[in-house]
Amino acid sequence: MNLESKPIKHLEGEIICPGDKSISQRILIIGSLLNCDMEIEGFLDAYDPNSTLNALNKIGASIKKNHNSIVLTKRTNAFIDASDELDLGNSGTGARLMLGLVSGLGINANFIGDSSLSERPMSRVIDPLREMGALIDSNNGKLPINVIKSNIINSYSYKLPIASAQVKSCLLLAAIASKNDINLIEPKITRDHTERMIEYFGGVIDYGDTSKVGNIELSYRELQPKSNYQIVGDFSSAAFVIVASLISNDSEVLIKNVGLNETRSGLLKVLQMMGAEIQITQSKEVCNEKVGDILVKSSNLEGIKVPDSIIPNIIDEIPILSIAAIFAKGKTIIKNASELKVKESDRLSAISNGLDKLNISHELFDDGLSIHGNNDILDTSEVIDSFGDHRIAMSFLIAGTRTKNGLMVKNCGNIKTSFPSFKDIMNSIGMKIDEKN
Ligand code: S3P
Repeated sequence: MNLESKPIKHLEGEIICPGDKSISQRILIIGSLLNCDMEIEGFLDAYDPNSTLNALNKIGASIKKNHNSIVLTKRTNAFIDASDELDLGNSGTGARLMLGLVSGLGINANFIGDSSLSERPMSRVIDPLREMGALIDSNNGKLPINVIKSNIINSYSYKLPIASAQVKSCLLLAAIASKNDINLIEPKITRDHTERMIEYFGGVIDYGDTSKVGNIELSYRELQPKSNYQIVGDFSSAAFVIVASLISNDSEVLIKNVGLNETRSGLLKVLQMMGAEIQITQSKEVCNEKVGDILVKSSNLEGIKVPDSIIPNIIDEIPILSIAAIFAKGKTIIKNASELKVKESDRLSAISNGLDKLNISHELFDDGLSIHGNNDILDTSEVIDSFGDHRIAMSFLIAGTRTKNGLMVKNCGNIKTSFPSFKDIMNSIGMKIDEKN
């Protein structure tokens, strides 16, 4: 599916942020482990969480979906060997977290995924899972992957070579599912939704003294069921609305119910450093996650050197940050972000490819980009390739607001993996996005 985004005069209005993708997947997994009756509100009804839901039901979970609300039912049976291949579609989070869960449960399962997921590196979870005692066959560190029933050791200790919340969460889930302790050390602080959820259900995690940044020590104890869980809105989806409002003239948009976990919302700090006018109101805690409303107004942005330490906390927002950088005065430099090369697409080269088509002067590094912004209206008849990557597609569609004649982005079907209501929500505040053949 190709989409075209037409130029607009301004954006205004109020939207409600759809549910968080990372949290939606985690609550399905941890909720199934809890084996209780539970109602989940705010679920993101998108391809990625739905792949995880289907995979869990294939290993014996009892999850029923009614759009954004989910019902988990207490089962008499434990988890079972997978009845069929576990197809995690496009979802790296689904595949890596489910590999941890299945290994910890000591059941048999075959994992597959779509062409993009089948190219993504899985050794980052297979290697430590094997050290924990899991028996795993893979296609040279990639999908398809076969997990064979085995036992996990207690008190495994691992220093993560890369900053990855998916790897961290995979190993935490393997430990919890096998009722074992684990000690992890991450090189930089990554999103901590799994730890927060474990603690919300009564688990105990010790982060050590403050000098040991990134230390996570889980002492196993039975998690306590609850009858409800409320998923907060997805900051990564809100990011598209935020940048669209900042770069459009005379705009003011209120985004309600946005997850504001600091390990996720680093883009707010970066944009504020660039001069963005953003206000947060109604901030509160829901199910151990911070949430609030964000008011964004058109702003004159200036390019900056993005601090390296914040990269893991803006990892999914770098494509849309690159669009903000196009319209910022001066140079924006993003380094230390080589992880972007192994996301749903090689995002560094996908961004660079799109910038080339927009005639935006930039440099592509092995670990980042430097973008020379200007405040002009873009004028191109070229078609942007999303490379089948939802975040690349949505980012360039936002750039379409500041074009002379519109911008066409091809292969946008994957927007449904994370933000199925993207077109409707953006059009409701004044964007003009339409399907185009
Ligand atoms: C995610 C972690 C990040 C992120 C992905 C979702 C998660 O991946 O890019 O979209 O839910 O844990 P890495 O942990 O591999 O950086």
